[in-house]
Amino acid sequence: MIISKMPPEEARSFAMKAMELRKMGYVGLSLLILSGLYLMSPYWRILPDTPLLIAKLLLVVVLVGLISVMSKAGDKFRAGDFSQMKLIRPLGRIALIVTILIVILAVGVFH
Ligand code: HEM
Repeated sequence: MIISKMPPEEARSFAMKAMELRKMGYVGLSLLILSGLYLMSPYWRILPDTPLLIAKLLLVVVLVGLISVMSKAGDKFRAGDFSQMKLIRPLGRIALIVTILIVILAVGVFH
């Protein structure tokens, strides 16, 4: 990532500002979950027969967990504990992979 090529001071101030963007991510994820719960209404009954759908829903739970850990680490980072970046960066990569898996599973189930 470009941030790892910046001088440390600049990287910190950039990361602080970039973290403001996370609020947009929370709104997006909340909308996906709300619309998903509504779209699920005809499918709850067949859920036990659709392992891919179960896997997708479990991964959404994992994603929410990852994001809440990252959010707590982000709060500490903003309070001055810059070592939190070591946690946030790998978790961010895992969250991206989990999100891609969720989309692949959703398309696998519904297409
Ligand atoms: C990170 C969160 C989520 C992502 C990225 C995501 C992604 C997707 C995508 C790409 C589709 C379209 C699949 C296709 O038609 O080929 C889809 C459909 C669907 N999703 Fe999600 N989803 C998320 C969360 C949820 C949640 C939390 C639920 C339920 C509790 C849910 C339930 C559904 C249902 C039922 C459909 C099929 C709707 C239909 O065609 O009848 N999703 N999702």
